[in-house]
Amino acid sequence: MSIKKVTKAILPVAGFGTRFLPATKATPKEMLPIIDKPLVQYAVEEAALVGIKEIIFITNHTKASIERHFSKSSKLEEKLISSNKKHHLKKINPDILQDLTYKYINQEDQLGLGHAISLAKDEINDEPFAVLLPDDLFISKPSCMHQLLNTFNKYKKSVIAVNKIHSDNIHNYGVISTKDISSPYKLDGIIEKPSADKAPSNIAVCGRYILSSDIFNHLQNVKKDHSGEIQLTDAIQSLIQKEDVMACLYEGEKYDCGSKKGYIEATIKLALNDDSIKKDITSFIRDIVE
Ligand code: UTP
Repeated sequence: MSIKKVTKAILPVAGFGTRFLPATKATPKEMLPIIDKPLVQYAVEEAALVGIKEIIFITNHTKASIERHFSKSSKLEEKLISSNKKHHLKKINPDILQDLTYKYINQEDQLGLGHAISLAKDEINDEPFAVLLPDDLFISKPSCMHQLLNTFNKYKKSVIAVNKIHSDNIHNYGVISTKDISSPYKLDGIIEKPSADKAPSNIAVCGRYILSSDIFNHLQNVKKDHSGEIQLTDAIQSLIQKEDVMACLYEGEKYDCGSKKGYIEATIKLALNDDSIKKDITSFIRDIVE
């Protein structure tokens, strides 16, 4: 991979969010709030904090509220100013999002994560780029993207975030071959959603990647899986036949907010991190579990 800075991030947001129906029938999963901020904004902020300048959403017509969320809202701003609520302006225009540009690419048919990523080929050219799945929420310092970027800057190779998972959940994830990962590790195999008895390890990809633009050639050649989807995992398995890909064991907490369990856990965790409500929420939880 040529040595270039990572300035672009792809955020695929075109999925149906079926695990969260009926909430996701008319509201994008990525717009569901954790406390008072939509999930997608956590991912955009994580990208911006490591120096990403351009956010490329892979989206569709049912997700228009995502584009509205990242657009200027002049009427709301005027209202906040005229009604003496200027202090809220920073909430809708946080400094951290000021330098970003946004692009929106339509994914007409939901043919999988790999297909979604492949649609951004012309926007990426030959630069390495980040991928963030906004339904995975990471809580750590440094952030998950920061940890990946440190590895990328050291090795100048594609790098994917991985974490240890419970065997009950293995069939939901891309699982890597190695059992013993002393991070960062040169990936030697990855398989999408294996059954627990066939899984090569209990270490799975989590939703953050930095990828070489060569991945687009591999995505072109990946065949649809049994469910008719083009999997990013299959393209990564193909990429490692040609060039090194590193796996970086993520240090921190990760919540799969596309599932009810993960979403509620993340909400409780962030509520307890929020000084303005922490005390009340702690005593509320104590009261209801006692
Ligand atoms: P998921 O499989 O977690 O999302 O895809 P989903 O399909 O929306 O959720 P369920 O399983 O039906 O509940 C991971 C990410 O990839 C995006 C999703 O929006 C999510 O952010 N994605 C998935 C696409 O953009 N396009 C696709 O065709 C599939």
